[in-house]
Amino acid sequence: MQTYIKDLLKHVGEEVTLKGWLYNMRSSGKLMFPQLRDGTGIVQGVVVKSSVSPEMWDALKPLGQESSLVVTGRVREDERAPGGVEIDVTNAEVIQSAHDFPITPKEHGPEFLLDNRHLWLRSKKQHAILKVRHTVVKAVRDFLDSDGFTLCDTPIFTPAACEGTTTLFEVDYFGDEKAYLTQSGQLYNEATAAAFGKVYCFGPTFRAEKSKTRRHLTEFWMVEPEMAYATLDDVMSLAERFLSFIARRVLETRQEELKTLERDTSKLEAIVPPFPRVHYDDAVKMLHEGFEQGAVENKFEWGGDLGAPDESYLSSKYDKPVMVHHYPAAVKAFYMKRDPEHDEYALGVDVLAPEGYGEVIGGGERTTSEEFLEQQIAAHGLPKEAFEWYLDLRRYGSVPHSGFGMGIERCTAWMCGIEHIRETIPFPRMLYRLKP
Ligand code: 4AD
Ligand code: MG
Repeated sequence: MQTYIKDLLKHVGEEVTLKGWLYNMRSSGKLMFPQLRDGTGIVQGVVVKSSVSPEMWDALKPLGQESSLVVTGRVREDERAPGGVEIDVTNAEVIQSAHDFPITPKEHGPEFLLDNRHLWLRSKKQHAILKVRHTVVKAVRDFLDSDGFTLCDTPIFTPAACEGTTTLFEVDYFGDEKAYLTQSGQLYNEATAAAFGKVYCFGPTFRAEKSKTRRHLTEFWMVEPEMAYATLDDVMSLAERFLSFIARRVLETRQEELKTLERDTSKLEAIVPPFPRVHYDDAVKMLHEGFEQGAVENKFEWGGDLGAPDESYLSSKYDKPVMVHHYPAAVKAFYMKRDPEHDEYALGVDVLAPEGYGEVIGGGERTTSEEFLEQQIAAHGLPKEAFEWYLDLRRYGSVPHSGFGMGIERCTAWMCGIEHIRETIPFPRMLYRLKP
């Protein structure tokens, strides 16, 4: 019977067939120990020379790492084995005999591994990371779907900027018209939220970021919920429930992978509501205290955006995400609503993950005033024609509304406890990398 490695424990004592690839091979005299992987797990086989045909023994002997093969054998329980079982191989069919697989158990540099990303994906750690990504995505959808949100996809070709003009990828759109790859589906979400109440979009987004940091990709996946009749506070409550749900789901379903990644799971267990909410001014105070104590290198100037070291310092004060709100309007996007009492602040929030993972969520309350929005569009040097439809949303039934965006890769890197977000997407796109 054909089965998968993940299901072997259900077949102890039975003869099964596994289709996969050779992960590793050890042999000693009259025994061979091929390790097989099939995408669902890894299992060790035992081949006894005296109990298989000489042809089969000779066919298996020279196989290199990642040769493809179909193995039949009896499942034997073995407490010492990683998955609790081993396979006593009775038959094996070689599909393709591979040699000199470039990625070996020895250490390779990151550039070499990224050049060989198409093969690197087969490694244990990469496999674990992408399994966690899968679970993060599933959790995101399950949470929003069961919380009354409707999925409304937003376009990838857009006529104008959403998050600043400096990070736009321009594309030729049949000669006359300029188009840009979307930076965020938010503006369209605001339209669909007025039609459906609670919506989300979830897709690839693009930023021509010239930054070469461990947190930036040029193409990343963003999930963006948007709610009509909702305020900044509502958005913070949603973000809190959302992140806690994701962390719990990862803990519930990815124990094996977290073990492979040597993740300290107590860090994920700490992600439960409520999250601390810190006004920007108080964040600045904390940064100043940090500076006086020598824990922050440069004295932070009120009015600036938080840099990666500032975010890391602030989040180091908590064991769960911290929500910094009321940023100075000058450092935030054109669509943000202003604090009615203090016009210099925007009703925006950044959720900073612990352990130095930085901003995982950015969002807030959107302006409802047509007049103010027109001013902002002009002040940001944006073309008004491209925003006429967006202004319509303030002309016809404008209501308080709010939402946020979360980058799937940043969230996954944090769940996995890994250094760089480039390993959280199958094929990363970065400043200096468009291949493979
Ligand atoms: O803070 P950002 O730029 O916010 C927006 O785009 C809003 N329009 C979202 C909204 O309110 N609907 O991006 C949101 C999130 C960030 O917090 C981060 O997780 C991720 O998107 N992100 C990136 N991830 C990887 N690489 C990049 N270059 C990223 N830029 C943003
Ligand atoms: Mg942001």
